Amino acid sequence: MRRLGVRLAQVLRAGDLVLLTGELGAGKTTLTRGLGEGLGVRGAVTSPTFVIARVHPSLGDGPPLVHVDAYRLGGGLEEMEDLDLDVSLPQSVVVVEWGEGRVEELTEDRLHVVISRATGQAGQEADDVRTVTLVGVGERWAREDLAALAG
Ligand SMILES: Nc1ncnc2c1ncn2[C@@H]1O[C@H](COP(=O)(O)OP(=O)(O)O)[C@@H](O)[C@H]1O
Ligand SMILES: [Mg+2]
Repeated sequence: MRRLGVRLAQVLRAGDLVLLTGELGAGKTTLTRGLGEGLGVRGAVTSPTFVIARVHPSLGDGPPLVHVDAYRLGGGLEEMEDLDLDVSLPQSVVVVEWGEGRVEELTEDRLHVVISRATGQAGQEADDVRTVTLVGVGERWAREDLAALAG
């Protein structure tokens, strides 16, 4: 999941919105850790559960990573704008855990990353298998070869 994040980071650029969907423990934060690594940002990417959003500035001249936990963002977009993040969202890569149905209004273009975890019986390997589905919405993603990320 981390390596997939590193690969995905290579196609991300300022203004991109990535929505992560998947049950607790699916690997959303782990994928985001890879994104942070791939983007070369400062600070450890951890679960933002108790802070709602965290900004990781670039160590180079790339865009900052804004990592949001929308689970607690009941009000959706308005609350997101009220967060006073001191960063320009159009100039950042914004990654939102539990974002589906909450922050789509931020931009017409967005990448949905849906992680499903096979539910095997306790103690069985199937529990560790993740299936990740990438769905790009809008003009921005029509031009991107997402299948190449499966490599
Ligand atoms: N592909 C994977 N295979 C096995 N374990 C994984 C995988 N992806 C994540 N994990 C593990 O699952 C746990 C929960 O991951 P996390 O990224 O915090 O999930 P989420 O943010 O979706 O709740 C972590 O211990 C992580 O190391
Ligand atoms: Mg998480």
